Amino acid sequence: MLSAQFHTIEGVTNTLNDIDLTIYEGMSLGIVGESGCGKSVTARMPIRLLPEPMFRITKGEVIYHRNEKPFNTFNTKQNGKEINKIRGKEISMIFQEPMSSLSPIHTVGSQMVELIRQHSDMDKAQAKAHAIHMLERARVPRASEVFDDYTFQLSGGMRQRVMIAMGVSCGPRLLFADEPTTALDVTIQAQILGLLKDIQREQNMALVLITHDLAVVANMVEEIAVFYLGYIVEMGTTDQILKTPKHPYTKALIDSIPTLHTTDALKPIKGSIPDPYSKITGCPFGMRCDKVTDRCRKEVPSFDTHENDHKVRCFEA
Ligand SMILES: Nc1ncnc2c1ncn2[C@@H]1O[C@H](COP(=O)(O)OP(=O)(O)O)[C@@H](O)[C@H]1O
Ligand SMILES: [Mg+2]
Repeated sequence: MLSAQFHTIEGVTNTLNDIDLTIYEGMSLGIVGESGCGKSVTARMPIRLLPEPMFRITKGEVIYHRNEKPFNTFNTKQNGKEINKIRGKEISMIFQEPMSSLSPIHTVGSQMVELIRQHSDMDKAQAKAHAIHMLERARVPRASEVFDDYTFQLSGGMRQRVMIAMGVSCGPRLLFADEPTTALDVTIQAQILGLLKDIQREQNMALVLITHDLAVVANMVEEIAVFYLGYIVEMGTTDQILKTPKHPYTKALIDSIPTLHTTDALKPIKGSIPDPYSKITGCPFGMRCDKVTDRCRKEVPSFDTHENDHKVRCFEA
């Protein structure tokens, strides 16, 4: 169970609350929830990509099993050798907005070669060949030409392919894909998701796919964790979450997905996410929930296991 806060001049935020998450070799997990729920923080935390000491873990730890040995990723310097061996190599990330993580002043190739050489003993020529091979695997057409392009010369879909090629170029065991398709149109979105799934299978890599859109993860992952205000409110297999959701927030997320089979109006989730600095007592979803009771207003429900390991944080489930 891990909790974490940001300490800023505006105050303290309870950004992660009693998070209990295990990611196994080769598994695919979806993290779903509205914006501001702590999805990106969860993805950036294991490889320490958050501003410390503003960001602090107040309870629990992040354990990475490296060569079968447990390694506490916070028990070392944020920019020390140990974490740098893991960051980008064993645990990697791709971000929603490629332009914020790709350099505009270096070519695609020089960024890839630098990353590959940092984590291997390849020489320049070998690293270049590997980079072009990874671009090809990410279905970048004319890969050897794109290698010499600057990122601003590429289309949005192509930039995202380059990000994926970079993200997986060192053969990570775990990849966090943080809203990798949000900025793309629907056709390209489907291609990029398909590509991620293929690479995950080919490399037997664990994939954590983060999205605010439940429809995106439906055909992509084995398990789903639903986040709300820094809590996991429900977790289970994709079938459990989509077919037999138990938490009112998950049900509301599902009702807000557009489908081809209904002419009913979409039901947006009522209310909005409260300000991160506000103090909330009781169930985090209480103020937006139709089934709220006096108990919900006072106590945070525990994260209980129901049949077949389906976990829910709700008194009424
Ligand atoms: N750099 C930061 N400084 C202060 N607070 C932050 C920072 N990054 C994230 N937070 C806090 O963490 C919460 C969750 O953010 P985030 O994980 O980015 O949400 P999302 O689910 O949209 O990815 C935000 O509401 C905010 O309060
Ligand atoms: Mg985010």
